[in-house]
Amino acid sequence: TPEQRERLQQATKHILLFRCLDDDQMIDVIDAMFERKVAVGEKVIEMGDDGDNFYVIESGIYDIIVSINGTATKVGQYDNKGSFGELALMYNTPRAATITATAEGTVWAMDRETFRGIVLKKAFQKRVIYENLLENVPMLKELSPYERMNIADALVTKIFEKGDRIINQGDEGREMYFIEEGSVRCTIRKSGQSEEVEVAALNKGQYFGELALLTSHPRAASVYATERTKLAVL
Ligand code: CMP
Repeated sequence: TPEQRERLQQATKHILLFRCLDDDQMIDVIDAMFERKVAVGEKVIEMGDDGDNFYVIESGIYDIIVSINGTATKVGQYDNKGSFGELALMYNTPRAATITATAEGTVWAMDRETFRGIVLKKAFQKRVIYENLLENVPMLKELSPYERMNIADALVTKIFEKGDRIINQGDEGREMYFIEEGSVRCTIRKSGQSEEVEVAALNKGQYFGELALLTSHPRAASVYATERTKLAVL
């Protein structure tokens, strides 16, 4: 119904895995999803099972339980948003976690064939490309492979031409960048001076723009593309 469509559109808005889809593909995805009401205590997914559906949460609270050294351990929780169940469908592996509802809720399900046919191809390519890039970022070493994959889903590619300014010293920071191809130079302008002094040159595989996000201070340097440069933006 139009009412369901509206609710589903809201629920899928922030699903990172869907960022790789264009508008037409997104319509196909929404058409393919079906509603499932979940009762308290219900296991939506059971670890070790074959993968049937991918789920997007509309409402409800869901515990994530994995087996650590043979003991069922709660490692996280979804609170009225998010999605789960993609791993078994992506990698043809048994379910990696049990997902249990701790409150009444509603999820939207997409069957395996639709997920693989529409979402998987593009999302998978993206995960493979960025997994390698992200694996070599020291700052992200502490993350689990699962968390790194979620970052891969969130990345958006942007191209800058030679000489383009990517970051302006003094601005507020909202994004950080990983260099997929090309190179950049970082410059600092001392207060009261107009001259910019180069302080660093960065190449493929390196990243920048994280400092302002970590400290909430203004951008400490400007950054320019030294050639045509492809960046993954987070
Ligand atoms: P899947 O293995 O298909 O089914 C269980 C789901 O739990 C899994 O996909 C992920 O979507 C989700 N999940 C959330 N956190 C984790 C985690 N730490 N390890 C594995 N799966 C997780």
